[in-house]
Amino acid sequence: MAGEVEQVPLFLAPMAGVTDLAFRLLARECGADFTISEFTAAAALTRQDSKSWHKLESDPRETPFIPQIFGGKVEEMVQSCELLQDVADLIDLNFGCPAPKVTRHCAGAALMGRPDELVGMVEKCVEVSKVPITVKMRLGTGTERINALELAKRVQDVGVERICVHGRTLRQRYSGVADWQAIAEIVDAVDIPVVANGDIVDAASATKCLQITGAAGLMIGRSAIGRPTIFQQIKSQLDWDSSPPPWSPTSSIENQASARLWAWRRYVNLDDELNELRQKSSSEEVEAHLLSKNRLRHAFAFTKELPGSKAFRTELHSNRGAMQLSTSVEAFLVELVTASKNQTQQD
Ligand SMILES: Cc1cc2nc3c(=O)[nH]c(=O)nc-3n(C[C@H](O)[C@H](O)[C@H](O)COP(=O)(O)O)c2cc1C
Repeated sequence: MAGEVEQVPLFLAPMAGVTDLAFRLLARECGADFTISEFTAAAALTRQDSKSWHKLESDPRETPFIPQIFGGKVEEMVQSCELLQDVADLIDLNFGCPAPKVTRHCAGAALMGRPDELVGMVEKCVEVSKVPITVKMRLGTGTERINALELAKRVQDVGVERICVHGRTLRQRYSGVADWQAIAEIVDAVDIPVVANGDIVDAASATKCLQITGAAGLMIGRSAIGRPTIFQQIKSQLDWDSSPPPWSPTSSIENQASARLWAWRRYVNLDDELNELRQKSSSEEVEAHLLSKNRLRHAFAFTKELPGSKAFRTELHSNRGAMQLSTSVEAFLVELVTASKNQTQQD
C-alpha cells in the first residue's frame, strides 16, 4: 500500500454537531490538512443569530479558515458571503445536505434539482466575494438524472475554486456505497481540483479511492468521529508522513485506547482553552450550553467500540457536567490502556 499513490491533502468533512472548533484544531494536529466548519444557515447569519455565528468561530491555528453556509435564498447567501469575507480565507457553499429541515426550504442537496438556481446562486456569491468560493455537492437528487458532472462544469465556469463531491445522491442519504467512479468522471471533466468524499475509512480505502478517482484531495467524515487520529494513521501507512505519533502504540487494543486517550485529553485541553477565551466575550450563556452538548457527543464517540464501552455509555448518560464528563472519559480510557499494557506484559 505504501508508495502506491501520490500524496494529496486530507480534509476533515464538515459535520454538524461534530466539527466544533476544538475538534477541528485537534484534527489538524492529527494530520488533517483542511478543516471546514459545520454548515450554518445563511438565513440565521443574516439576522445575526448568535448561536449560528458561534458555529463559525475560528482561531489563528486554523488556516485556511473555511466556513460553510447553506440556504435557499440567493440574497441571504450573498449577504452571508459579504459578512464572512473579512474573516474567511475561503467560503464553502453546501449543496450536499440531505436533512429534510434543509431540503424542505430547497437548500442543501435539494438545490441540485434546480440546477439553474444553484448555478445562479453560486455565480452571485462568486461575484460578491473577495475570497474564493468552493462548493460541496452530492451526485444529484436521485429522483432526476445524476447531474453532478454537468453542475461541476457549470460552477467551474462561474468561477468556483474547488469542488468536493460526496459519491451518493440526496435520495440515498447514507445508504449504499459511495460511487467513486462517478467522481472519477467529474475529475476528468473539469480543470479545477475535485475532492473525493464518501466511505474513506482507512489507508486501504484512501488508496483505492485515489486510484479510481484521481482526485486532488480526500475528505473524511464519519470515520473521523471519535477517531481524529485517522489522518495521521493514513498518512503514516501510505508513507506520506514518517513522524511518530504523539501516542505510543504497542498492541492493537492499546494502540486504539492510547490514541483515543491522547486525542480526548487534547480535545478537552483545546476546548477548555477556547472556552476561557469565549468567557471573555459577551454571549457566554449560549456558548456554555453548546460546550457541554458537544463535549457529551464527543465523549460517546471517543469511547465507542472499545472493550467495556457499552456499559460505560450508560454511565455517560447520567453524567452531564463538562468537567465530570472529561474526567470519567479519561478514567475509562486510562483503565483500558493500563489493562492492555498489563496483558501485553503477561503474554
Ligand atoms: C453527523 C454528520 C453531520 C454532517 N454535517 C454536514 C455539514 O454540516 N455539512 C456538509 O457539507 N456535510 C455534512 N455531513 C456530510 C459529511 O460531510 C460527508 O459528506 C458524509 O458523511 C460522507 O463522508 P463519509 O463517508 O466520510 O462520512 C454530515 C455528516 C454527518 C455524519
